[in-house]
Amino acid sequence: MKVLVFDNYEAASEHAAQLVEAQILENNQSVLGLATGSTPIGLYKNLIEGVKARGISYKNVSTINLDEYIGLPREHSESYHTFMAENLFNHIDISIDNTYIPDGMSPSPEEECVRYEENMDRVGPIDLQILGIGSNGHIAFNEPGTDPDSLTHVVELVASTREDNARFFPSIDDVPTHAITTGIKSILRSKKIILIASGKGKAEAVKQLLSKEISQDFPASYLWNHNDVTLIVDQDAYALVQTEGQ
Ligand code: PGA
Repeated sequence: MKVLVFDNYEAASEHAAQLVEAQILENNQSVLGLATGSTPIGLYKNLIEGVKARGISYKNVSTINLDEYIGLPREHSESYHTFMAENLFNHIDISIDNTYIPDGMSPSPEEECVRYEENMDRVGPIDLQILGIGSNGHIAFNEPGTDPDSLTHVVELVASTREDNARFFPSIDDVPTHAITTGIKSILRSKKIILIASGKGKAEAVKQLLSKEISQDFPASYLWNHNDVTLIVDQDAYALVQTEGQ
């Protein structure tokens, strides 16, 4: 795992964008694995700027998102469909037919998981996967205890994840209880992975990740089983690692 530490969130986001744009310049038909949440917003802002400022085109790019809440209609303000449209897709020249997000309103979420995984096989492999990390070490919605062999599956969100995400909803009771998420195995099939962590709230998780202990209790630790992972962190998220080292 390559670890890159930046002064702040802006610098970390800018660097992540450079890596994504380098991937697209190398192959304009790249398949990107995309994440939602607060972390990648700065990256997406930079990618949007890159369309005008650097002439980057997404015309032939495909994207596969990590997860979606079950029970939120696509047009709900907090669905990941809406998040992706507002934070990226509406502002770049991507064809919406080349963007894939699980259908959280499927009458059979289990069947949707199978369909999504088949879809990943058909469109993928993912050339470059973007990940955030939960304060509990989850990647996508793979909560602690997730099987490392997991493919796309239905997950019940743990209390800490619903609390972390309650900031986007009127109250914690409005946060969905379940989601569809790509699995650990689905994620590790990506050719390259970038994990971004920013802010003091992620410092414990980054410290745990960099202890290199691989454990089912800390799903991000499975990234040590992949040979091309870049961890992009800001100083705040790296703070506890530095303290230890001094
Ligand atoms: P965040 O979420 O980017 O909103 O902090 C990351 C995650 O839960 O994976």
